[in-house]
Amino acid sequence: MAVYKRRVQTKKFTRTTYGPEHYEQIAATCLDNSINHLNAAYSQKLAGAEGAVEFRDQGVYTFDNHGKRYLDCLGGYGIFNVGHRHPRVIEAVKAQLDQVCLHSQDLLNPWAAHLASQLAAIAPGDLQYTFFCNSGTEAVEGALKLARLSTGKTEIISTKNSYHGVSLGALSATGRDVFRKPFEPLLNGFKHVTFGDIAALEAAITENTAAVILEPIQGEGGINVPPVGYLRKVRQLTRKHNVLLILDEVQTGLGRTGRMFACEHEGVVPDIMCLAKALGGGVMPIGCFMASKKIWKALESNPSIHNSTFGGNPLACTAASATLEVLVEEHLPARAAVMGNYFMRRLIELKEKYPQYVADVRGRGLLIGFEFQTKELREEVQAELWHRGVLVAGTMNSNKTIRIEPPLIITESQINFMVDTLDGVFNDRVESDKKARKRGKKRA
Ligand SMILES: Cc1ncc(COP(=O)(O)O)c(C=O)c1O
Repeated sequence: MAVYKRRVQTKKFTRTTYGPEHYEQIAATCLDNSINHLNAAYSQKLAGAEGAVEFRDQGVYTFDNHGKRYLDCLGGYGIFNVGHRHPRVIEAVKAQLDQVCLHSQDLLNPWAAHLASQLAAIAPGDLQYTFFCNSGTEAVEGALKLARLSTGKTEIISTKNSYHGVSLGALSATGRDVFRKPFEPLLNGFKHVTFGDIAALEAAITENTAAVILEPIQGEGGINVPPVGYLRKVRQLTRKHNVLLILDEVQTGLGRTGRMFACEHEGVVPDIMCLAKALGGGVMPIGCFMASKKIWKALESNPSIHNSTFGGNPLACTAASATLEVLVEEHLPARAAVMGNYFMRRLIELKEKYPQYVADVRGRGLLIGFEFQTKELREEVQAELWHRGVLVAGTMNSNKTIRIEPPLIITESQINFMVDTLDGVFNDRVESDKKARKRGKKRA
């Protein structure tokens, strides 16, 4: 009796080690497979006119199949804080591959335990316990569940324009209709107030509020920095009303804003903190949520009430442990503060030079939002930067803004390259605008 109706032949991936003579073939196959088996419209958009395919990454650079080098000022949406393929992270993962890759689940896991102890040592205040998962969305999902479990209450207050992930729980916290509407009804008990408005937050709190969830700086919302003192006031308010504070540091955490955690700028200790993205050193996917011993008690009577098969796996944990060592030993949070100030200063010069194009420059450390006067201009400049070898990206909730989020190891001369390239794009635009005006006058 035939077991399979169809004979399935395994296609073999053309090895990247085949050399440049195979690059064209690999690129063509990639585009074809992406269109037919991933997402046609998105693949065509990513491929652009050149059909560039990612081929190799190192440090602050990404290289495509034509050998073209791109300065990575996007940082994989915040995952490459220690740069691409940091040698210490790669070495740790390679060694781990020869020992244990995924854990048996039935013995103590020394890699997860070690990483949790490292995190406890650097986390703000009394955050001591960690649950490991595989993404930022899962970290938020777990944090929301823990807040409900430990308080016995159900309401969650989030902010408008926030982004917390795409699972039904995390999406209920996310504050943008374009992501939410197609999936409604979402979870009950979620409210969204204006980010930065402390009075609106207080008005939304009820006796049944379990937690407030916030990004210290809204990332996907367009790199929105709240007024000074906002986070501290939120902390005071949540304490006063016996409500938990969940800080989603998935994008702001691990040095990005110039401190190891963005909440440290205001000396705030959350009750629950979410991390992901940069935690895996740009090598392995890993996320987590952390809380104090008191809050963690809620998970102890039934430890498998929240669980993950892959969460805490040795490969991801070793990558994360090496990443934390690199962040601390190479002083990357402090470096982000210094380089971020320099970057921001240079970008503000551009804003002053081209007020007709640039609406705003904002951010903290190396999490910078650069807002254009129009969405169309943002799209055109972003594409032109790409042509000239600089990667940046838009933010999901603010279509006029690009995010500048490079590896924290970026140097001053690399920052100069980026800003000078952007200056060149604007300058060319000024010239072409002039020519267009002249042509217009002649015609008139
Ligand atoms: C603040 C924040 N939280 C959660 C997420 C979701 O993370 P992931 O894409 O790893 O699920 C993101 C992703 O951009 C984020 O920026």
